[in-house]
Amino acid sequence: MRYTNFNNIDVSPEWSFTNVRSTEQWTHGYHRYPAKFLPNVVKKLIETYAINNGKIADVFAGCGTTLVEAKAHGIESVGIDINPVAQLITKAKIKPVLPNVLNVPYEELVISFSQYNENEYENIKLHDRIDYWFRLEEKKKIAFLYEKILKINQEDARNFFLVCLSHILKNSSRWLMSGTKPQIDPNKKPAEPFQIFQLHCKKMMSKKRFVLYRT
Ligand SMILES: C[S@@+](CC[C@H](N)C(=O)[O-])C[C@H]1O[C@@H](n2cnc3c(N)ncnc32)[C@H](O)[C@@H]1O
Repeated sequence: MRYTNFNNIDVSPEWSFTNVRSTEQWTHGYHRYPAKFLPNVVKKLIETYAINNGKIADVFAGCGTTLVEAKAHGIESVGIDINPVAQLITKAKIKPVLPNVLNVPYEELVISFSQYNENEYENIKLHDRIDYWFRLEEKKKIAFLYEKILKINQEDARNFFLVCLSHILKNSSRWLMSGTKPQIDPNKKPAEPFQIFQLHCKKMMSKKRFVLYRT
């Protein structure tokens, strides 16, 4: 194993990456996450220190920025994170999925929105924390969407749409969009869940994903 002494890296503008929108590359933009790495920093670290040097481990992997960049460079990697949502996001970001595996369940989900009947959620369970962040209108639609996604048999597709749903929760809630700390925005009109879900799914599906031969 080779260790790099990071104390010897000089301060240099080469590491500032001004005007580079690396978060739009690959699958990095699937899900917001607190204190994410800037992908270009990881990319430069890999290209400078890790090429031809075995595996990369990120033991606080978060939503998998390091693993995505490692994969993009054809390097094996391992990630550890205590947060099951982080694990799910990372899986969805690095697992190769063929377009058809997503297109069919996506179309079925969109069609199901026309069958949504809010009266069927009249007796939806109360929950102190959820009801603090969500209005009833959005909460019912999210419950419907969650049930539909859980019925998708193919695991990779199910995970992909769960990640999409998880990402739009902030938009569909009363959470202040510009804040990272949890805080209610009294003036916010939460996004309509079906609409924002479709928008984000399309964005995720349009991104360059990993292909099967790279697994
Ligand atoms: C700042 S985030 C890392 C973000 C990551 N660099 C990225 O780009 O997505 C730190 C992560 O450490 C994880 N973490 C904290 N304590 C941990 C522990 N004891 N074991 C494993 N993961 C832990 C948290 O769940 C969180 O996802």
